[in-house]
Amino acid sequence: MGGYSQDKTERKLERHILESKKMFQSIIDGITDGVVLIDREYKIVAVNEFIRQRTEKDFNEILGKHCWEILNCALHGSGCPTRKTFEKGEVFEVIHRNLSNEGDEVYYSVRAFPLKEESGNVSQVVEYIKDISEGERLKKETIRIEKLTSTAEIAAGVAHEVRNPLSIVSASAQYLHKALGPNHPCREFTEAIIKNAHTLEAIVSELLNFTRPLPITLELKDVHECLDKTLKFLEKKFFEQGVQLIKEYQAGLPPLMLDERHMGQVFLNLALNALQAVNQDPKKLTVSTEYYPEKRQIIVKFKDTGSGIPEENMVKIFAPFFSTRSKGIGLGLSMSQKIVEIHGGSLTAESTVGHGATFIITLPTRERAKTVL
Ligand SMILES: Nc1ncnc2c1ncn2[C@@H]1O[C@H](COP(=O)(O)OP(=O)(O)OP(=O)(O)O)[C@@H](O)[C@H]1O
Ligand SMILES: [Mg+2]
Repeated sequence: MGGYSQDKTERKLERHILESKKMFQSIIDGITDGVVLIDREYKIVAVNEFIRQRTEKDFNEILGKHCWEILNCALHGSGCPTRKTFEKGEVFEVIHRNLSNEGDEVYYSVRAFPLKEESGNVSQVVEYIKDISEGERLKKETIRIEKLTSTAEIAAGVAHEVRNPLSIVSASAQYLHKALGPNHPCREFTEAIIKNAHTLEAIVSELLNFTRPLPITLELKDVHECLDKTLKFLEKKFFEQGVQLIKEYQAGLPPLMLDERHMGQVFLNLALNALQAVNQDPKKLTVSTEYYPEKRQIIVKFKDTGSGIPEENMVKIFAPFFSTRSKGIGLGLSMSQKIVEIHGGSLTAESTVGHGATFIITLPTRERAKTVL
């Protein structure tokens, strides 16, 4: 009799646990962000529907696995908030950057909350994962635009003020040069003034070009032809510097609406930057193209084997006037980004210091590009 009532109590208890589990699951499934319960061995005890959908896995493929395997996480070292929460028993948060299957940047805020035993030990951690990509993208874009606008305004002001006195310097030096006659010992000085005034005039007009709206004329063009024209122009430079130029073009690219002159300028800037960065063997620049019909995108990559770009400079290289070269003005990349964006595309960079840099131009095949910025 005793056994029977014990069975009954156990079954009741089991049912109760099952119901509590179901209730717990439906509560966390109702949360529209990610919830993951992790034990001290970093194994997943429970997840909600959001995580199941994002990982495209079933619950039984997820439960019992290590969190870093399932969450595609590179943080299981010292940066991991869950590790810190287990160690310190407090709430920790990090912003985690990932790439989606489509290759887009996705940002998650990951907060780790401790679940404590009576003794105060943390037995489990709840990770609360929120997709904050939209906010991060907006923040980045606002900073970029503000930077561009304020620097461009200063540049336009300075260029404008410098232009008139400079043309007076240049004209006066030319007058003096002539007046001195061919054998005068001071002619080398007037020559130096004229030459350097020309350099300054070129810089000023480049600045003014940069700050003026850029009118573009779009025509259906073959990207490979446009690339070849620019690269042909640089053939001698490649040869002289012993840099190997490798072309990996995908066949069957559709023609694009391009302003050939401006896009040629972008290809020229990227190739020149690569030439300036490769100074140790193997010296290579690979220019490749890829076509993604389903995304209506063409990607052009300039991948070099140069010195690469330090992490702290990655956000700065597209800002106007940022340069690490003694003779650089720092307008090449910002100008190129502006041109690509007018075409409705994007220009981004990837790099590992010491292993070269890759500049990636993504261009739409159908979208209408803007006519002026
Ligand atoms: N392929 C590359 N490899 C390594 N660093 C690069 C590369 N391309 C650009 N950079 C970095 O980005 C900076 C900005 O490039 P950008 O083309 O805008 O200016 P710049 O080349 O310095 O001057 P310029 O106005 O003459 O082009 C460079 O000074 C360099 O530090
Ligand atoms: Mg440059």
